[in-house]
Amino acid sequence: MIAPGGRLTGRIRVPGDKSICHRALLLGALATGETHITNFLESADCLATLAALQELGVKMERAESSAVTIQGLGFEGLRSPVRELNCGNSGTSMRLLTGLLAGQPFESVLTGDASLHRRPMLRIIEPLLRMGAVIKSTSGHAPLTVHGQRPLKPLRYAMPLASAQVKSSLLFAGLQAEGETWIKEPATTRDHTERMLGSFGCAVLRDGEWFGIYGGRALRAADVTVPGDLSSAAFFMVAAAAQPGAHLIVEGVGINPSRNGVLRLLWDMGADIRLLHEHMLGNEPVADVEVHGGELRGLDIGPEMVPLAIDELPALLIAAALAQGVTTLRGAAELRVKESDRLQAMAMGLRTLGVELQLWDDGLRVTGGNGFQGGEVDSFGDHRIAMAFAMAGLRAHSPIHIRDCRNVDTSFPGFAGLARNAGLPIEVSERLPP
Ligand code: S3P
Repeated sequence: MIAPGGRLTGRIRVPGDKSICHRALLLGALATGETHITNFLESADCLATLAALQELGVKMERAESSAVTIQGLGFEGLRSPVRELNCGNSGTSMRLLTGLLAGQPFESVLTGDASLHRRPMLRIIEPLLRMGAVIKSTSGHAPLTVHGQRPLKPLRYAMPLASAQVKSSLLFAGLQAEGETWIKEPATTRDHTERMLGSFGCAVLRDGEWFGIYGGRALRAADVTVPGDLSSAAFFMVAAAAQPGAHLIVEGVGINPSRNGVLRLLWDMGADIRLLHEHMLGNEPVADVEVHGGELRGLDIGPEMVPLAIDELPALLIAAALAQGVTTLRGAAELRVKESDRLQAMAMGLRTLGVELQLWDDGLRVTGGNGFQGGEVDSFGDHRIAMAFAMAGLRAHSPIHIRDCRNVDTSFPGFAGLARNAGLPIEVSERLPP
């Protein structure tokens, strides 16, 4: 429950980047030598990848809560799992692990929760089959049974949809192929895998719009310090930007241009956001993000911006509802196959809170500027929907109750405590078993 009347102020740090942590675990497992991860995100999703790798025989040590040491086994040291690899709620775990396992000569079964079993997997299965792996699914959905092949055939693949998970899955397979694997994306998606491959001694090749990797070359262990997760920071940035009088600094946040659409869109909405102390952390750009609250204006979010802000669109729709004028979002059908149908979930919740909108197959039209009435909204078990509506509480006339919030730990353990410290009057009364 979020009571009205809060105001965001002060300095906060959000936990480490989820996407980067998954990749560091997987590359660390495949490298030879000891990989150290600092500022590791102890979220359910990242712990699912960690547990799956342990099941594959990788030794991991968690000395302090946010540090992980991995004894890499190289491409040939993983062992056949005795148990199913349970990816929980995590699409990244399932899709990236499947790419990795496609090149391992044993059988693995990947499962997850009900939401993950509804998500489309043909997007990785189809190209991985072309590389020679045998993957069984239930009409393109998990559970997946992967019979890996060594070596895989190299692939030249123009991806039909913009997805960093698909791209990364194919790169993990490509590392284990005989020859060069080349990929082209229809639009830029987060490039954390490509950047991190450089740190692990595997240069990514470029040829115009195509990029490629050599298969069969050993990876060298590396140290990875994980920036704060921009997708987690986004909830606070959006809420502070849309609240006159708010002043918040989020320290040490990743601002990688292949996924910083939330910043660009907030700037286009007239937000007063400055980047301080910009620097590189390994191969990733990082900054402190300073936000002064004010009035925002509506804008048209076109398909080209969608992959650059894919996880931040629920939060941005809260900003849209508070902005003066109309906001449209187009080309965002991918939101329907996330942890929930995020277009539907946001439309339902916003309507409950009194916002006028139109829902399309691939987007929304939101008429902003009237604040929120209170009410009870359903997060449909989706962490980002729950956190987006929590932020709506700052500009609501009466309390907002959010149902089914147990999955917030998927990406952002400690969210409620951090939000309370930053000035959001949030009370957690519902703790359902996972
Ligand atoms: C991710 C890519 C995105 C994003 C997800 C994390 C990643 O998914 O929504 O939360 O780490 O590669 P898609 O690749 O399906 O767009």
